[in-house]
Amino acid sequence: MKEYVDVLIDEAKIEKKLQELAAQIDRDFHGEEIALVCVLKGGAVTLVHLAKYLKSPVTMDFLSASSYGNGVKSSGDVQIRLDLTNGIEGKNVLLVEDIVDSGRTLAKLREMFLERNPKSFRICTLLDKPDGRVVDVPVDYVGFEIPDAFVVGFGLDFTQKYRNLGYIGVVHFEEE
Ligand code: IMP
Ligand code: MG
Repeated sequence: MKEYVDVLIDEAKIEKKLQELAAQIDRDFHGEEIALVCVLKGGAVTLVHLAKYLKSPVTMDFLSASSYGNGVKSSGDVQIRLDLTNGIEGKNVLLVEDIVDSGRTLAKLREMFLERNPKSFRICTLLDKPDGRVVDVPVDYVGFEIPDAFVVGFGLDFTQKYRNLGYIGVVHFEEE
């Protein structure tokens, strides 16, 4: 099987959307410091590009979580492999994600983060696949709603590849 990738959202559209989201986030946080956190690896690209456009003072921190599933779908059994290095108690936390699908990963992480008593906790995702939702989780900032297709690029991978694409593409498979 050989795969090919079709452009779904081009780079210019993504950057424009991130500027709009950043402006909205700046307004909502009224100049207070924001602790940007993301789950490696997918969310890192969105976090970095969003951060360029934020005028609020920000810090950045990363965690790594494993979610056992079949590779394409997450199971929701989320285990932290590498935790944040900065505490989040009393901070305005903005969790940045690449995509929300079933919502299982985010729901679990939200629970874990809230136990650490941040001042506020919000979620921003570049992409949302509402059709895939199994667990309800409040998402405060959404870049694009997309149909239930498997997408890559801008941090998202298929078997660890394509994270470096500047655009979001849909993966198609063809028989060789
Ligand atoms: P869920 O919301 O718990 O189902 O899982 C979301 C995670 O699954 C994301 O952070 C991605 O790592 C992965 N994921 C879901 N949909 C896609 C996709 O279309 N392409 C690549 N990864 C995806
Ligand atoms: Mg992810």
